[in-house]
Amino acid sequence: MPIKPEQKMDILVSLCKRRGFIFPGSEIYGGFANSWDYGPYGVELKNNIRNAWWKRFVNGRDDVVGVDTPIIMNPKAWEASGHIETFSDPLVDCKKCKRRFRADHLLEAKSAKPKYDKEKPADLKDIVCPDCGGKLTEPRMFNLMFKTFVGVTDDKASLAYLRPETAGGMFVAWKNVRDVVRKRLPFGVAQVGKAFRNEITPGNFIFRTREFEQMEIEYFVKPDQAEEAFEVWLKEMKAWNKDVLEIKEKNLVYREIPKKDLAHYSARTVDVEYMFPFGQDELYGLANRTDHDLSRHQEASGQDLTWHDPETGEKVLPYVIEPTWGLDRTILAVLAEHLDIDEAPTSKEKDKEPRTVLRFPAHLAPVKAAILPLHKKGELPKIAQKLTQKLRERGIVVEYDESGSIGKRYRRQDEIGTPWCFTVDPESLKDKKVTIRDRDAMTQERIALVDVPEWINEKLS
Ligand code: GAP
Repeated sequence: MPIKPEQKMDILVSLCKRRGFIFPGSEIYGGFANSWDYGPYGVELKNNIRNAWWKRFVNGRDDVVGVDTPIIMNPKAWEASGHIETFSDPLVDCKKCKRRFRADHLLEAKSAKPKYDKEKPADLKDIVCPDCGGKLTEPRMFNLMFKTFVGVTDDKASLAYLRPETAGGMFVAWKNVRDVVRKRLPFGVAQVGKAFRNEITPGNFIFRTREFEQMEIEYFVKPDQAEEAFEVWLKEMKAWNKDVLEIKEKNLVYREIPKKDLAHYSARTVDVEYMFPFGQDELYGLANRTDHDLSRHQEASGQDLTWHDPETGEKVLPYVIEPTWGLDRTILAVLAEHLDIDEAPTSKEKDKEPRTVLRFPAHLAPVKAAILPLHKKGELPKIAQKLTQKLRERGIVVEYDESGSIGKRYRRQDEIGTPWCFTVDPESLKDKKVTIRDRDAMTQERIALVDVPEWINEKLS
């Protein structure tokens, strides 16, 4: 049953809270400006995506290595990279209701209106407050980096920043990594971690927050390899969307960013955009950062950051191709993509009722299998608990549930996206078999108890 886009976000936010994927942060204190807690299932989903990424792009390749660098670095690094000077968004205030907006977002919204004349670029002078119609102030630039103080005094000398992207740490660590990896160009450095931005207009659930997680690769190449590497990484990103996240092609747009809109460090960027329930917006990015970062760090640090080819003696300052993935946005896209409402039979055999289901790819599902004894007492729970334990010992995330009608237990597992339920019923005592109920097809088949671990492992591989 197709879900109307305007309803999807409300359904998702409420499902995430009700079932324990994502809760409002600091809720007992009235919440805190767009911060979110990942609950028990949310954190499993997050770990599964992060691990799939690391396995595919770091452990699964010979040309990428991982690092983990600090959130707070020497502030000179952010001066050199240009972030202190230019990592800003244009901000306007409504003179009447005092709400704040990003000027570029207001201009984009105007250009997206149906009768917009493309010959006449949108002008902020023609735009009023979208909330109350009040006049807007002139735009002023607002730096997005969070400031903090390191040490006991909060003076200028101890001023530092929370990293606005994980990339910075990888450029600063480049010299040490270069010296130990024994690899020839091209090769990449990968990092997963939190980044912080004092966003002017956070919102749309976990889409734009002030604290979020990135999965980034800085792929170092000789300048003449940059174009080819860009195309290769674009293909890699497409394959990730299709094979790992199982996102439909029609829900993705690979948008070439016009030169005038490029970030201060980029010579070319393709934004990977997803049809989120609230509209098409950026999911990931791929940029050619040229030698912008290394040349600025080389100049500011006075260190030689060039790469020396041991065989040819060639000395180059590498260019960098940077594919970047937001982890929280991935979670939102995966939730939106796989949420479905269909119909399931009620306890009165012929009747049907709406069923909410998260059709996650099995390898991403927070719980892989639910073990459900039909009775609460007697032998059945014992068999079910033994099976649960056996699966846990094999590292499979499972849930044991003996309370409520079987139909209600299935519904609960459907809502958290568990691909398979294993029911232990009185027959199991005789034939030593269990019933597997498939989340998507809702079909049932019986297999031997001893074969369950192998059956799940086979499905997951
Ligand atoms: N190192 C390059 C870089 O940081 P970016 O496009 O600014 O590029 C990369 O960010 C990714 O991080 C985005 O594509 C998005 O997935 C995620 N991201 C950026 N800002 C975010 C925010 N405020 N909240 C959640 N995710 C964000």
